[in-house]
Amino acid sequence: MTKKIILDCDPGHDDALAMMLAYANPEIDLVAVTTVAGNQTLKKVTNNALSLATLIGMNEVPIAAGCENPLVNKIKVADDVHGESGIDGTDLPDPEVELQDIHAVDLIIDIIMNNPENTITLVPTGALTNIAMAVRKEPKIVNRVKEVVLMGGGYLESNASAVAEFNIITDPEAAHIVFNAGWKLTMVGLDVTHKALATQDVLDELLKINTETSVKVNELLSFFQAMYKENQGFDFPPVHDPVTVAYLIDPSIMEVKNVPVDIELSGKLTRGMTVVDFSHVIKEKCNTYVGMSLDKEKFWNLIYDALRKIR
Ligand code: BDR
Ligand code: CA
Repeated sequence: MTKKIILDCDPGHDDALAMMLAYANPEIDLVAVTTVAGNQTLKKVTNNALSLATLIGMNEVPIAAGCENPLVNKIKVADDVHGESGIDGTDLPDPEVELQDIHAVDLIIDIIMNNPENTITLVPTGALTNIAMAVRKEPKIVNRVKEVVLMGGGYLESNASAVAEFNIITDPEAAHIVFNAGWKLTMVGLDVTHKALATQDVLDELLKINTETSVKVNELLSFFQAMYKENQGFDFPPVHDPVTVAYLIDPSIMEVKNVPVDIELSGKLTRGMTVVDFSHVIKEKCNTYVGMSLDKEKFWNLIYDALRKIR
């Protein structure tokens, strides 16, 4: 049985790979792509999603734009990591795929309400604004969704403050709603995604695959490498977002622990922190799971297989 997913993203170099993996892997049925402000403005990330869809020939998957700003704050983009366009480093085609004439929040709700219960999985790889808005607008979605597998947070690692990760700190209030909704939620945080490095071997393999898309992905990840070197001292860039999709395809790539997670909203130094309670002090039972490890070889093989299927 294929898994039906909605990818809610802010492309974004690594979001692009999440989209490609979800589109090309036969175990995943990508039912919609929705966009949210994050790595760049909503306008730019939406344009990037449409360009990427055009590049890979993904004409049949609806793409809808969502929220322009987080629930409380104004958007602060990550141009230091993703560049002026949000996906600098290669030339993408002008969009030929059309944007849907519906708000992402409404598309998410419609899809969940119009499919059988327990069939739609949400895969957020950006700030959680759209998902939180959908929960508030139609709370019935919480019991209908199969699960949420998101990229965000971390229990030891951080990249946007001493203790917070970019997607969560971009909209902590939204993250608070989503993590506390009660649905099954798996957090694929930096502790895992910092192991998904696009090493020299990976960059070389992309050139060997030698399709139009894989060569562009090599260019994108080379730009990403330079940015990560300059800003965060990484020799090779972590390709965060597709770990979510890879985990849905093959759960054996990542060990998870069933532990409570909550979002710090008010801490002066800790706002946006994902507080992971390995001692179960906050509560005994919970529906939240935290990714702990990554089988890198299996992960990259899934990416290569997907790229071989794309033109
Ligand atoms: C996350 O932030 C974004 O810059 C990436 O696309 C990823 O979703 C990593 O912290
Ligand atoms: Ca992202």
